[in-house]
Amino acid sequence: MADTYLITGGMGCIGAWVIHHLLENDKAVVNFDQSTDTHRLDWLMSADEQEAITFVQGDLRDTDQVKSVIKDNGITHIIHLAALQVPMCRANPVLGAQVNVVGTVNIFEAARENDINHIAYASSIAVYGSANDYPAGLIAHDAPKLPRTLYGAYKVANENTAQIYYNDYGISSTNLRPYTVYGVGRDQGLTSEPTKALVAVVKGEDYQITFGGKMQFHFASDVAKQFILASETPSGGALGFNMGQPPQAVTEFADIVEDIEPSAKIEVDDKPLPFPEGFDDTELKAHFDTVYETPLADGIEQTLAHIRRLGDAI
Ligand SMILES: NC(=O)c1ccc[n+]([C@@H]2O[C@H](COP(=O)([O-])OP(=O)(O)OC[C@H]3O[C@@H](n4cnc5c(N)ncnc54)[C@H](O)[C@@H]3O)[C@@H](O)[C@H]2O)c1
Repeated sequence: MADTYLITGGMGCIGAWVIHHLLENDKAVVNFDQSTDTHRLDWLMSADEQEAITFVQGDLRDTDQVKSVIKDNGITHIIHLAALQVPMCRANPVLGAQVNVVGTVNIFEAARENDINHIAYASSIAVYGSANDYPAGLIAHDAPKLPRTLYGAYKVANENTAQIYYNDYGISSTNLRPYTVYGVGRDQGLTSEPTKALVAVVKGEDYQITFGGKMQFHFASDVAKQFILASETPSGGALGFNMGQPPQAVTEFADIVEDIEPSAKIEVDDKPLPFPEGFDDTELKAHFDTVYETPLADGIEQTLAHIRRLGDAI
């Protein structure tokens, strides 16, 4: 059977990059998303390239729709990304739980019914607590989960769901826990401001990032490639990995931009986000033959060039 990849949330930032990289490798792609807004795909690929995508508009909360998309399209690989982010879960906790928690159960259940024995899905560093919950230094991948947001609590529920589906049905899974993803298409969510700053710089506008402190930045293209590899690499369990990269200050991000684009004016507030600075990726590096880690300066340079190429389209 030919490989066919189901991407949930393929209209989103990471999903659009996943689809872009899968199509580069001539893979068959089914994009299951509630939205029909292709703006992020349009920023990454031409209309002709998008012809190769099978679009299925559907709601992750609908068990039957999720089962059908897998059954009807001969899915062999699943990359489950669709979710509501921190601000949306905070604004509408019930909807957040329906999409993020029930939606993920629907994916596992549909996989079980269709004999798919491995799933890659997105978790988040929001499963962890704040810095003072842990010893100093990078947080280990198996440190206690002490979420401080509903979004984080829902991601913990997903990780526990994955463990039970492995224990009870032998469906293995790999989740990745990104921190701050940046790159073309990162235009919503709590940590989208560094990317919004890059768009502002190219447009000749000033930008104020409303948080400071240190964090780990991941280039969206790298995250997407790691998700693809996670879907293709059996895990023999319900595994979860932090994504690494050295913790860097948000002011450092702004300094790099100003080095590349001396006219840039990015202000950075002092207040850090309520998350630790960094998470240890030793296990990620032990599990995968390849870990995609574009250095921050290169990722920023590529993103600025990409935004310039898009011109008025972004
Ligand atoms: N971007 C980050 O920095 C980051 C960090 C950690 C974890 N994550 C996780 O990675 C995943 C992808 O993130 P992203 O930045 O690409 O998100 P995004 O918000 O850009 O995209 C999410 C997509 O999910 C779709 N969606 C929402 N509700 C749906 C529903 N009921 N049915 C079908 N589709 C629905 C949306 O239409 C959207 O296209 C998410 O699970 C997110 O929690 C992202």
